[in-house]
Amino acid sequence: MLEVSGIRTGYDGVEVVHGVDLSVSKGETVCVLGANGAGKSTMLRAIMRQLPLWGGSVQFLGRRLTGAKAFVPAHRGMGYVPEGRGMLASLTVRENLEMGAYPLRAQASFTVNLERVLSLFPALVPRLEHAAGNLSGGQAQMLAIGRALMGSPKLLLLDEPSLGLAPQIVGQVYAVLGQLKIAGQAILLVEQAVGKALALSDRAYVLDRGRVVLSGPCKEVKNDKLLRDAYLGL
Ligand SMILES: Nc1ncnc2c1ncn2[C@@H]1O[C@H](COP(=O)(O)OP(=O)(O)OP(=O)(O)O)[C@@H](O)[C@H]1O
Ligand SMILES: [Mg+2]
Repeated sequence: MLEVSGIRTGYDGVEVVHGVDLSVSKGETVCVLGANGAGKSTMLRAIMRQLPLWGGSVQFLGRRLTGAKAFVPAHRGMGYVPEGRGMLASLTVRENLEMGAYPLRAQASFTVNLERVLSLFPALVPRLEHAAGNLSGGQAQMLAIGRALMGSPKLLLLDEPSLGLAPQIVGQVYAVLGQLKIAGQAILLVEQAVGKALALSDRAYVLDRGRVVLSGPCKEVKNDKLLRDAYLGL
């Protein structure tokens, strides 16, 4: 489904991601783990065409995204939940969800998608007409995921959905990701919350200073001594 090969990118001429290979198959949940500053968000931004590729290529559903216009990933079925959630704070919760339905392919299923999002995140229902800026962190994360789901994504890409949330709320968010996975949703998840991400995912990649240092089925990655000592603090 997603085939990333040898991508390189960075900021202001300074390379941060040094040739990353990664893939996600249909129905698969894949996580990318790594410490603060490892380059996880930068990698996702490059995959989503929000940063220029300095090398390598990104293919989605057999077609190159490299060089495509910035709206193309969303239209082809990539639903992105950015770090920090990226809510439009002055719009209502409902309007934020409506914004998520902008890919043409999602507009016919708007009503069905909205019902589905509200049943996954019932906490949003009484807040539909409230400004998104007034939501708690957990509610804002639910809205960010809901907004991505409004675009009928074939692949859902999430950047640290647990960031800044209380453990109980993290549990709720991951319970929903588990439901999506069971329903067949392909997911690419970037996380520092290693335990939750490994428990949810099928395969994992570990990123260190912009390079993949370990990858494989979560069961194997979880037991890797190097990883436990050096990267995960387990
Ligand atoms: N907008 C930016 N401009 C310049 N440098 C940046 C920018 N964003 C990130 N960096 C740098 O790129 C490197 C990788 O950062 P990135 O945010 O991708 O890491 P991360 O793995 O997502 O970390 P975290 O877990 O803290 O979110 C870091 O050295 C960071 O300082
Ligand atoms: Mg990040």
